Amino acid sequence: MVSSTSLFSLVSMIIQSPLLSSSPFEAVIAAHASTTTIHKEEEIRKNLRQVLESKIQKTKCPAVLRVVFHDAGTFNKASNDGGMNGSVLYELGRPESFGLKRGLKPIKEVYEEMKARGFGDENDGVSLADCIACAGSYAVELTGGPKFLESVPLGRKDASSADPEHRMPVETLRGKEMREHFQSLYGLSSQEMIALSGAHTIGQKGFGDPYTFDNEYFVTLKKDPWNLPNLTKDELEMNEHIGLLSDRYLAEDEENRKWIYKYAEDAGAFNKDFVDAYIKLTTLGV
Ligand code: HEM
Repeated sequence: MVSSTSLFSLVSMIIQSPLLSSSPFEAVIAAHASTTTIHKEEEIRKNLRQVLESKIQKTKCPAVLRVVFHDAGTFNKASNDGGMNGSVLYELGRPESFGLKRGLKPIKEVYEEMKARGFGDENDGVSLADCIACAGSYAVELTGGPKFLESVPLGRKDASSADPEHRMPVETLRGKEMREHFQSLYGLSSQEMIALSGAHTIGQKGFGDPYTFDNEYFVTLKKDPWNLPNLTKDELEMNEHIGLLSDRYLAEDEENRKWIYKYAEDAGAFNKDFVDAYIKLTTLGV
């Protein structure tokens, strides 16, 4: 699918077309087909934004963004299967999927509305997996994070059954183990993993405002509130509620720590790297 359009690229396509040398007429037909595709994508994206705006509320954003990781996180680089294919729909009974329905519900509504408008995958429109990837991006935008919905590629194919089990990382993995999990299963670097983990800045885990996408996650990890000296018993107990065990463990690893400190000090770098890593995450297996 073509992602952007300009007169310049259209003219270049005609000039560079091998058809031009054989028949200018055929080149014009080819260029017309490309323009039609471009217009169709513009229509899809315009409708998708409208539908997302009407179906995704701010209070649902954390739950919606979490679904993205659960759909993509079943990818296995070695067997090149799983990943971003909407299979999360068939994986809701798994222990790690507890609470996912809350985020999946509005995303399914987005997909149904896109189909009702004639933009379902049967018409070369969007798949459920596309809606998951785009809803997550919209959730980031709606909570004040980077705006990149229009850069999320489309064209994912939906699976008709669950992906294999035991590919999602468990919460008890230590920092180095989590880094190795992301590398060996997904082919993602420590930097990409840390940027993506910044998604936990939204939600109820105690990294600042639950509905504000910022770099508070890293600021907190850098402070290391679980190991501060001279805490009272009450303070210690309160800090125990911050984050998941895996969040707490991330900074144990030197390579991870480097990126945690960088993003704690540079919110702009976090936003940029988050977008790049998000695009990679949401195209795993595509
Ligand atoms: C690094 C490994 C990860 C682990 C082990 C993990 C695990 C979890 C768990 C267990 C929860 C539920 C917390 C609770 O409410 O009790 C959660 C929440 C969440 N996760 Fe992750 N996650 C990881 C990475 C990611 C990534 C890469 C993303 C997205 C890019 C993500 C997005 C979220 C969001 C937004 C929430 C908040 C959901 C809500 O409050 O409803 N997580 N995660």
